Amino acid sequence: MCARIAAAAETVARCGRLSLEELTLATALVDRLNATIQTGSPTLWACLSPLARRAAYPPDIPFQAAEARSKTYNATIGQITDGQGHILALPAIERALAGLPTTDRNQALLYSPIDGLAELRQRWRERQRRGQPADKPSSLPLVVVGLTHGVSLVADLFGGEQHTVVVPAPFWGNYRLAFAVRTGARLVSGLAYRGQGFNCEVFAEALADLPAGEPAVVILNFPSNPGGYSPTVEERERIGSSLRQIADQHPLVVVCDDAYAGYVFEPEIPRQSMFWELLGTHPNLLPIKVDGATKEFCLFGGRVGFVTFPFDPADEVMAALESKAKCVMRGTVSSPVATSQVLLLQALRDEAVDAAIETVRLALLERYRLLKDLVGRLDARLLQPLPFNSGCFALLEIPRQHDVSSEAVRRRLLDHYDTGVIALAPNYLRLAFCSVAAAALPELVRRIEAAVSDLVS
Ligand SMILES: Cc1ncc(COP(=O)(O)O)c(C=O)c1O
Repeated sequence: MCARIAAAAETVARCGRLSLEELTLATALVDRLNATIQTGSPTLWACLSPLARRAAYPPDIPFQAAEARSKTYNATIGQITDGQGHILALPAIERALAGLPTTDRNQALLYSPIDGLAELRQRWRERQRRGQPADKPSSLPLVVVGLTHGVSLVADLFGGEQHTVVVPAPFWGNYRLAFAVRTGARLVSGLAYRGQGFNCEVFAEALADLPAGEPAVVILNFPSNPGGYSPTVEERERIGSSLRQIADQHPLVVVCDDAYAGYVFEPEIPRQSMFWELLGTHPNLLPIKVDGATKEFCLFGGRVGFVTFPFDPADEVMAALESKAKCVMRGTVSSPVATSQVLLLQALRDEAVDAAIETVRLALLERYRLLKDLVGRLDARLLQPLPFNSGCFALLEIPRQHDVSSEAVRRRLLDHYDTGVIALAPNYLRLAFCSVAAAALPELVRRIEAAVSDLVS
């Protein structure tokens, strides 16, 4: 008990003015969740960040309001309603949402539950699991505010100082912000490509100096940003077996960032997330899926993402982990955006949605094929395409011997060619072909080649 009071006093110093009763309750709750995880999944426990270990979803306003939801007299939550659960909406906002069914419109304007709208979570789960055997465990996806927030939530749960994160380079810069800058995790890397394919040993090479027993996080992003690459069947097998070998030595979280899921353009390249084939293949390996509507449903401004964990919804370890994740959510964004969840629900209920998504994929496929042909004909002394087969992007490498940086080329394109691309240090240019019309691609590639040629000669 003395230790408990000392811990409570320490927390008071950290958290401000909580009563001892509240603190004892919070500490007891955290202890209970931690014990559940330690017993049920020692690997998960070993991977949790210091923040995750002290987190528990508090039984305060949203918790109590959820319990009172169906009561006749419900004075729990600070939403302005008619007393029967209907929002007192402003006419201009109601008019803008006039196409929605009445119940959905009301739901769009009320607070979402912290973990997201129940129907949305259920429908997204069913969609994710299409074609997967029923016995593969996956949680109800937790709704987050776009995939960036999903990555950031995972970083909060599994990052932190002392934790090592591997991401192959070149990589999407937000991983560094989410894991290293925000949580202080050690980010290690290695080259994503070897020859004309993926460097399947990159994770083992990057973790070679990590003492056995230390936890690690690996990020898999296929189709990739900035690379536009998805591994072949054989590469997937090699990546999987390399990760299992790492898991022999380290409790391992594998984050599958599936932002561009489905946008695959070569028939022999698998489309499904590696999350499913890693699931349950090693007791020390925990895959976590981050996906969402941003690219898959072309809902860029909607900010609806999902985080899915490798446990059944009914598993008590999942309940403990979800409590921790909801605590982090509550302390950052409070709850995800209801309005865009309701928009996404309209699409998920639409039987024609897959055909509509396929139309988008076919539009990208046309641009992909054209770009592939164009970059294949570039002067290799000036620019060399890295392998790409999926997603929204292609990378061009400026040969190192020229000593011309991608930033110098980017500036030249802006200043002299009325053209914008992304420069990635030291010598990569990223082309987002998803946002360029097919008809404009030949001129885009011509201008990039001309800009490099100016600087080389
Ligand atoms: C690989 C990858 N993951 C996640 C995201 C973030 O998606 P969102 O816009 O939903 O935050 C992006 C966006 O560019 C991305 O390229």
